[in-house]
Amino acid sequence: MESVSHENRLFAPTSEFAQKAAVSGMDAYRAMYEKSIQDPEGFWAEAAEELHWFKKWDTVLDDSNAPFFKWYDGSRTNLSYNCLDRHVAEGRGDKVAIHWEGEPGDTRDLTYSQMLLEVSRFANVLKARGVSKGDRIAIYLPMVPELAIAVLACARIGAVHSVIFAGFSADSIRDRVLDSETCMVITADGGYRRGKMLELKKIVDEGVETCACVKDVIVVKRGEDHPVDCSMVAGRDSWYHDLVADVSDECPAEEMEAEDLLFLLYTSGTTGKPKGIMHTTAGYQVFSYLTSKYVFDLKQEDVYWCTADVGWITGHTYIVYGIMQNGVTQVMYEGAPNHPDEGRFWEIVEKYKVSIFYTAPTAIRAFMKWGDQWVDGRDLSSLRLLGTVGEPINPEAWMWYHSKIGGERCPIVDTWWQTETGGHMLTPIPGAVPTKPGCATLPFFGVEPAILTDDAKEVDAGILAIKKPWPGMLRGIYGDPQRFKDTYWCKWDGQYYFPGDGARRDEDGYIWILGRVDDVVNVSGHRIGTAELESVFVEHKDVAESAVVGVPHEIKGQGLIAFVTVIDGRDHDDHLRKELVTMIDKGIGKFARPERILFSSDLPKTRSGKIMRRLLRDIAEGKELGNTTTLADPSVVEELQQQYLNG
Ligand code: WT7
Repeated sequence: MESVSHENRLFAPTSEFAQKAAVSGMDAYRAMYEKSIQDPEGFWAEAAEELHWFKKWDTVLDDSNAPFFKWYDGSRTNLSYNCLDRHVAEGRGDKVAIHWEGEPGDTRDLTYSQMLLEVSRFANVLKARGVSKGDRIAIYLPMVPELAIAVLACARIGAVHSVIFAGFSADSIRDRVLDSETCMVITADGGYRRGKMLELKKIVDEGVETCACVKDVIVVKRGEDHPVDCSMVAGRDSWYHDLVADVSDECPAEEMEAEDLLFLLYTSGTTGKPKGIMHTTAGYQVFSYLTSKYVFDLKQEDVYWCTADVGWITGHTYIVYGIMQNGVTQVMYEGAPNHPDEGRFWEIVEKYKVSIFYTAPTAIRAFMKWGDQWVDGRDLSSLRLLGTVGEPINPEAWMWYHSKIGGERCPIVDTWWQTETGGHMLTPIPGAVPTKPGCATLPFFGVEPAILTDDAKEVDAGILAIKKPWPGMLRGIYGDPQRFKDTYWCKWDGQYYFPGDGARRDEDGYIWILGRVDDVVNVSGHRIGTAELESVFVEHKDVAESAVVGVPHEIKGQGLIAFVTVIDGRDHDDHLRKELVTMIDKGIGKFARPERILFSSDLPKTRSGKIMRRLLRDIAEGKELGNTTTLADPSVVEELQQQYLNG
């Protein structure tokens, strides 16, 4: 974080960009921001007017039962209608919604009219199979159009989707399915990743084997050219293409109440059990729409590309809901950035003349490492705006992105937000706010951040807080209202929202995100709770205890280092190490593999028995150890430190 703290180069948008921008110049941003804070209800009512409502709201914000806020109470609307029907009704039906490209190079273009048709058909399939409003449906798909179609079909009939990123393991599917009692899983036989087929259906079979609530599994066929070994369970499984073949093309969008549950998305916290974050209809609708519109400065002629997976919140908000509500054309790509070679992304940008490109710092660092030769020679002149999301971006990566990809002409929006916030919270508005490398800058409209101490004093560097409710905020943790209150609202006596990040405000009032202040680690932009790994490790019969910490990693942002103590007399060697890695693959997913696993006879603890993670982090970062006077047994650290250095 050192280099970040001393960065003060300033990059104003070019006058060409600013002139055409929806919000042009700092004065315009400040005026609009002031209005949104002085009169939030007026601001959010005006924003909502741009969308379709079956019935308008009685109140914009109801805060009588905080932190269970209600937005647009009394209204009736439908996200699928605002993403599809509205554009067809207003004459934009023939516009391409999705240019899809599979990893092997196969392509499909879907217009807004075709999307409406596909979504309506699949919604009819869901209805025909007995799905009704409020039912939970798990979606475990590769990045194929059916992923967006399935999401929108659920929204159309009021079913609650729970998308599970297709890198998660069978155990993770099971936990999520059982927690929300999903009645159906939508998956595919497989999906391409670096030239190989991930056998997704097999993973689902294993995951739902013991889940009595799952009555139905619908399978998209992806492996036409590379048949996947995919057995179908009679009475439970059906092929997607068979089911959509004999249903009607028409399915009117259900009139949803403002606070009807739209989706669940599981994310990691500080315990071993992921949280089912709840997002509801009307507020998320307006927030995803408006943040997309202003942060990406969307124009009708834009070609937008977000490289995230729909399995994460970025894909929910900035591939499906926010982007499609704005009716722009986007690219959706199935596979890896380095297949068949490291130039794939730039080939796609050139081919589709992408104008807005949104990706993660970890990807940018990988591109830098792969070398400029993959970028040189590609025509990237269609690009006009760049974005990053998921973790703090180091100034070096920011500068490379700015000059090499953006040709020094594209503003970069560094967007800070979370699964819980539903959409962008801190971000430059690109035609207005001058940027600094590595800085998320200023709040979006209606968002009031503060930097506080533990006892709620305003400071320049401390813990980030959000002072006012905003429409896209989470409404709860599924099945656990107490955990919702404890996690997000207890820190400052229920006054402010606690996101879990540290932050610092500079002399220009810009906010710099300094990373998590809890035991959540951000590996390649994927959020992982260290407690989740720990609870997997202790399931091993030879393991007594473990502690996992995050350390800086050149490409991934952060990596995981695991400290494991083995029961007396048991072997600890590479064999055990391999078994533990396999357990992580199976218990969470390959993306959660630690960089290193260290064995020791004990962990550094205080005299009251609390593991001192701070010391473990010092060891793992090769730093001089901090204060060790509270340690019960100082020899433990020495042993670990020796091992770390020798390994
Ligand atoms: C956590 C949220 C937001 C969608 C993807 C991740 C970190 C996110 C930034 C950024 C610094 C960032 C925070 C946050 N984070 N964006 N631009 N600068 N940090 O969503 O999995 O819910 O993770 O990601 O630590 O709390 P998520």
